[in-house]
Amino acid sequence: TRVLSVASECVPLVKTGGLADVVGALPSALAECGVDMRTLLPGYPAVMAGVKGAKVVTDLGDLFGGPATLRRGALGDQVLYVLDAPHLYDRPGSIYLAPDGKDWPDNPERFAALSWAAAHIGTNGIEGWSPEVLHLHDWQAGLAPVYLREMGAADRVGTLLTIHNIAFQGLAPANRLDALRLPATSYNPGGFEYYGQISALKAGLVTADKISTVSPTYATELMTPEFGMGLDGVLRERQADLTGILNGIDLGAWSPPYKSPKGKAARTKALRKEIGLPPSDGPLCVVISRLTEQKGLDLLLNVLPTLLDAGAQLALLGSGDARLESGFRDAATRYSGVVVRIGYDEALAHDLIAGGDVILVPSRFEPCGLTQLYGLRFGTLPLVALTGGLADTVIPASPAGMAAGVATGFQFAPVTANCLRVALMRMCALWQNRKDWQKMMENAMAHPVGWDQSARTYAALYQTLKKVP
Ligand code: ADP
Ligand code: GLC
Repeated sequence: TRVLSVASECVPLVKTGGLADVVGALPSALAECGVDMRTLLPGYPAVMAGVKGAKVVTDLGDLFGGPATLRRGALGDQVLYVLDAPHLYDRPGSIYLAPDGKDWPDNPERFAALSWAAAHIGTNGIEGWSPEVLHLHDWQAGLAPVYLREMGAADRVGTLLTIHNIAFQGLAPANRLDALRLPATSYNPGGFEYYGQISALKAGLVTADKISTVSPTYATELMTPEFGMGLDGVLRERQADLTGILNGIDLGAWSPPYKSPKGKAARTKALRKEIGLPPSDGPLCVVISRLTEQKGLDLLLNVLPTLLDAGAQLALLGSGDARLESGFRDAATRYSGVVVRIGYDEALAHDLIAGGDVILVPSRFEPCGLTQLYGLRFGTLPLVALTGGLADTVIPASPAGMAAGVATGFQFAPVTANCLRVALMRMCALWQNRKDWQKMMENAMAHPVGWDQSARTYAALYQTLKKVP
């Protein structure tokens, strides 16, 4: 199957979160299942720099206020198309946020343009290659099925919309309808209208042929008011077309430098030295995360004294909300057992996973989550909230799980400070039992976290989306 994957970020070129890892991993993972996937990205400075000399293969003319072309570059062995539209993407700083910390005011146009280019490729092909399926990621690609319909190609090209995070919905004021080249006839509650605004995500949810999200549990949760963020009704209506497919991780990039649990001790010692934590017999807990409401790290701040009293240490790497950043910074100055690095650091992330004993992911919601998967692979036991992909990937050290000898980590629910505290205490108690702990590490390291199975599932799903035999 020929598939065009369309997204706003992709490793190694541009990344703010797990979406980039997934989009970057899909083409090669799927190549092994006979899928010919090409990727389309916006031409931010980082992307343009990464595809130096990429030649223009299509001229799109004026696209939302300036000239736009499609260039052909490479993503590893796979083909990458870049939407070069300087008026939309050639600007410094965050790909989503202006220097004032708010969304770029023209984000609706910036990502409508991406969706438009995707539909254009679906309709006209590119370089003689015509995708049979558009695989659209999150709201930034959500308008593509609408444009595809407008261009008259919806009966030839299948569409799959994957929800990585429903918290971001791509809202735009209704008066931008014309400017965004959207059909006014679909501006209604059954279409892409969302409480008086245009929603790019809803547009995709109501018009894509199929919808997926990144774990089976999150697929179910999305249909409830608690997790659907206003779109649960839309998703309930599309239940028959909604499926959850777990993310995998790049096993090459995330491969432990030790083969058995015993090898970790040396890394832990080295890590303590590297980041300036005193020697300790207790478990070293690590966090690698965006610091946002979603991730539940305010709860961790709350229970930190108890965790430290129980003999554990904490090393946190992250950035985001100013209040969380300063909360953790304060904790690091107050307690010798806490080290905090505010920022983004790929190398340190690897060292934390390799040297940590436990990775904490107390998220309020988590579509899939990748860091608990890194943890599993490295025998860094995940302690996670029982939600979304975290529920699907960690086998808890419950009495039954321990008796059966299958546990890989710790889970807690509901997501409150108190339940987190109880789980942390249980973890610290189990730490004393070295035999059980080592068994859990073995289980974790043997747990499959690669792409194999999910790649096959995507490949089968694409098959069902082909419209022309
Ligand atoms: P989300 O996409 O919601 O942020 P995921 O767990 O799916 O959550 O993916 C987060 C990705 O970003 C992981 O690859 C993680 O290692 C990485 N990451 C997050 N924060 C940092 C940071 N401060 N430094 C390095 N990597 C980070
Ligand atoms: C989102 C989610 C995260 C998921 C990632 C990749 O950012 O928050 O849970 O792992 O997308 O699908």
